[in-house]
Amino acid sequence: RKPIIPYEEIGPELLSDLVDAFYGKVARHPMLYPIFPDDLTETARKQKQFLTQFLGGPNLYTEEHGHPMLRARHMPFPITYDRAQAWLECMAEAMDEVGMEGKIREDFYNRLILTANHMVNRTGPDE
Ligand code: HEM
Repeated sequence: RKPIIPYEEIGPELLSDLVDAFYGKVARHPMLYPIFPDDLTETARKQKQFLTQFLGGPNLYTEEHGHPMLRARHMPFPITYDRAQAWLECMAEAMDEVGMEGKIREDFYNRLILTANHMVNRTGPDE
């Protein structure tokens, strides 16, 4: 049986469209935009690199930035449980927008739920 690599199934174009749709929503989400830079170009570029390797594609993020250490890199930003849910909502809407569906979406989204909840680094409803 041929192993299924999610990155190969999704492909770079759809992944890129997903990330662009996602940051379009982050930029307008009242709970998220205050902690992100105004210009999300570089953030989106890094996220495309990261998700490529997260989904089993080439290690583009690590080649340029070193070990992801995502939780440590997120420590400067106040990430509450509510913010993690907002992040996931933006991602679900972006997946709808680009037409990502079926098992590939379910598996990808379930992994993002775990990763997003792992990023929570503050208690409280907001900060
Ligand atoms: C960077 C917020 C979850 C991957 C960032 C930045 C913020 C942020 C504010 C800095 C943006 C910049 O300076 O360019 C959040 C919040 C999350 C969350 C509120 C809610 C749980 C995630 C998840 C992933 C992720 C689940 C991966 C699946 C990244 C990556 C970067 C990043 C790869 C770039 C790191 C770098 O500068 O090299 N995030 N994030 N984030 N985030 Fe998140």
